[in-house]
Amino acid sequence: MLAPMAELSHRPLRELIEGFDAPGCGGCDEYFTEMISAGALIGGGPFESFYTDGGPCPEKVVYQLVGADPGHLAAAAALLDRLDCKGIDINMGCSAPAIIRTGAGVRWMADPDRAAAMIARVRSATRRRLSVKLRIGTEDNFDYLVAFCRRLEAEGVDLITLHPRTGKEKFKRRARWEYVGALRSALRIPVAGNGDIAGPEDLARRVASGCCDAVMVGRAAVRTPWLFAAAKKTPDTGVIDLEEVALRFLYLLTKYQPSEFHISRARRFFNYFCDNLKWGTHVKNRLNREETLGGIERVLRGYFNETGDRKPKPPPLS
Ligand SMILES: Cc1cc2nc3c(=O)[nH]c(=O)nc-3n(C[C@H](O)[C@H](O)[C@H](O)COP(=O)(O)O)c2cc1C
Repeated sequence: MLAPMAELSHRPLRELIEGFDAPGCGGCDEYFTEMISAGALIGGGPFESFYTDGGPCPEKVVYQLVGADPGHLAAAAALLDRLDCKGIDINMGCSAPAIIRTGAGVRWMADPDRAAAMIARVRSATRRRLSVKLRIGTEDNFDYLVAFCRRLEAEGVDLITLHPRTGKEKFKRRARWEYVGALRSALRIPVAGNGDIAGPEDLARRVASGCCDAVMVGRAAVRTPWLFAAAKKTPDTGVIDLEEVALRFLYLLTKYQPSEFHISRARRFFNYFCDNLKWGTHVKNRLNREETLGGIERVLRGYFNETGDRKPKPPPLS
């Protein structure tokens, strides 16, 4: 599954990922969207149609909602319920201070009663598969995590994705995958694991290990959007040309996103994608100074023309 990532898990990235696979194979099994503010969605913000664009494969899209108000979350879930999609996910893992301050993200995990009551309201608003993505919690306490997830399970959550770090850890320390298997043993509903998958071999190994019901990949799928196809050893993955991939992403961005989003989203994407390049840090710095997509395209074309650096580096070992 593709992880929900703000400014990254949108239609252009899904189109890019699907494009590496043989027709009919599907890039990955499920695409979580970036978190969508429940309040903004029901308020009808100007960009909501882009957040709810489930293309090119809406049946595989899981819309992720973020918010602190149970009424907003339930109303937003009811709205998304009417769209073609795989499911609806509630963000209980985001540890960004601006989100926690509002009572959303991982803050839900500090108050099991409040979280259970919110889930009960959302559950009654949608027939879709309802999932929750969370972290270990605000502290490293496995028993607390199990008790918390059992409350969610009792309220009708169908799937839990665990990113096994605490809220405070952000991306520090390694993801504690042993918690994923242990949580799965403690619950009746399926559990997905997420964190630090570095490349296709790593993904295939985690899937084969059977430690969880699904594996979710975030940053590595931006760095190497061919990762899912490569993990399945799709014959058509073919030879990757980094310039082609970079320019295709820019094309998809202009085709499917509003111009107000272009620069921020291009910078986010290339912040990871440039890790494939020999002089990636230098290119990232140059891209961050560009104010237009045309400028970004010129920097990229110039780099590939000068260096011929078109083949991806092997993924780092995890
Ligand atoms: C730029 C960025 C944005 C993210 N935005 C979200 C988000 O909107 N919702 C969410 O639940 N997690 C979000 N995450 C966390 C990822 O979904 C995932 O849990 C995390 O990156 C660990 O997986 P990885 O090691 O495969 O990247 C974000 C992560 C990154 C790097």
